[in-house]
Amino acid sequence: MFLLKTWRSTAFGVYGYLNFTKSGFLEHSKKFKAEDMQTQIEGKNCIVTGANSGIGYAAAEGLASRGATVYMVCRNKERGEAALSKIQSATGNKNVYLEVCDISSVGEIKSFASNFSSKDVPIHVLVNNAGLLEHKRIITPEGYELNFAVNVLGTYTMTELMLPLLEKAAPDARVITVASGGMYTAPLTKDLQFSGNNFDGVEQYARNKRVQVALTEKWAEMYKTKGIGFYSMHPGWAETLGVAKSLPSFSQSLSGKLRTSEEGADTVIWLALQPKEKLVSGAFYFDRAEAPKHLKFAATSASHAAIDSIVDSLRSFSSLSS
Ligand SMILES: NC(=O)c1ccc[n+]([C@@H]2O[C@H](COP(=O)([O-])OP(=O)(O)OC[C@H]3O[C@@H](n4cnc5c(N)ncnc54)[C@H](OP(=O)(O)O)[C@@H]3O)[C@@H](O)[C@H]2O)c1
Repeated sequence: MFLLKTWRSTAFGVYGYLNFTKSGFLEHSKKFKAEDMQTQIEGKNCIVTGANSGIGYAAAEGLASRGATVYMVCRNKERGEAALSKIQSATGNKNVYLEVCDISSVGEIKSFASNFSSKDVPIHVLVNNAGLLEHKRIITPEGYELNFAVNVLGTYTMTELMLPLLEKAAPDARVITVASGGMYTAPLTKDLQFSGNNFDGVEQYARNKRVQVALTEKWAEMYKTKGIGFYSMHPGWAETLGVAKSLPSFSQSLSGKLRTSEEGADTVIWLALQPKEKLVSGAFYFDRAEAPKHLKFAATSASHAAIDSIVDSLRSFSSLSS
C-alpha cells in the first residue's frame, strides 16, 4: 500500500508539473479553436457556486460576458455583492444575480432550492465550483466533516435539487463540476468523512474530488434520458486565494508557474458553450479535451464500483428520496 501511494503521488506530481501549470496551458492552448469560445448565450440561465472568487468568479464573468443570465451562489453576502458589481461593470451585463447560500449546509441548499425553484426558470448550466481544502477535521453544525460537506454532499444536494429546473432546459442542460487532478492520487472510498485519528486534509480533498468524478459518471448513467449532460473537469493549478491559503508552500514553490483563474476557468466555459453532441456525458475534461480518470498503474479504476453505495449514503445524508 505504501509503495502504491508513493507511486500515485509521484506520477501525479510529474504529470501535474508537465501539464497542470501555466506552461501546460500555453502548450495545450496551441490546439484550442478561437471559434469554440465565440458563442453568445443570451437567454441561457447559469448557476455558478462559489462565484465570488478564483475560478468560480472567472467562470461567472466568462458566462456573463457572453450574455448569459448568471446566478452567483455565494456564502457571504458582502463578498458576493462586491463580486457581482465587478462582473456587472466589467461585462455590462445586468442579468447577474446574487444568491446567498452556504454549500456546507444541506438545510441552506434546500432553502435556496425551494426559493429559487419558485422563479420557475430553466437552468441550462449548473457549475458546481464551490470547494475547499481544510486541513483540520472540522465538523459542520449538521454533523459532517467540512471538506466532505462542501465538496461532496453540497455538490450532490445542489445538483439533485436543481434537476427539475435542468430538465426544463433539456436537451441543452448541463452540469459542470469543478473537480481536481488531485483525485488521481485517491481511489474511491466509502469512508466519506475520513474516520479514524489520522485525518489528512490533502488526502480527504483528493478523495472528495474522486467522488465528484465518479458521481458525474453515475449521474450520466442515471439520468441519461433526461437531456442533461454531466461533466467533471480539472482547471489545472491556478493561483487563487484558496490555493494560497490551503497550500502555501505549493503556491510559493510554483510562484510564477501557476495558471490565472481565467485559465483555470477556460474549460468550464468551453464545456458550457460547446454543442452537446461534441461532449461525452460522464467524462472528465481538462484543457478542452477529455482526460483520463486514472493514472497508469495507479490501481484506482476498480474502486469506482463503490459509487452505488456512496450514492445511497449521500441520498440518506441529504434526506432526498430516490
Ligand atoms: N486553484 C486550483 O489550482 C484548483 C485546482 C483544482 C481544483 N480546484 C477547484 O476549483 C474550485 C474553486 O477553487 P479556487 O481555487 O478558485 O479557490 P477559491 O478562490 O478559494 O474559491 C472557492 C470558492 O468556493 C467558495 N466556497 C467555499 N466554501 C463554501 C461554502 N461552504 N459555501 C459556498 N461557497 C463556498 C468560496 O467562498 P469564500 O470566498 O466565501 O470562501 C469561493 O468563492 C474548487 O472546487 C477547487 O477544489 C482548484
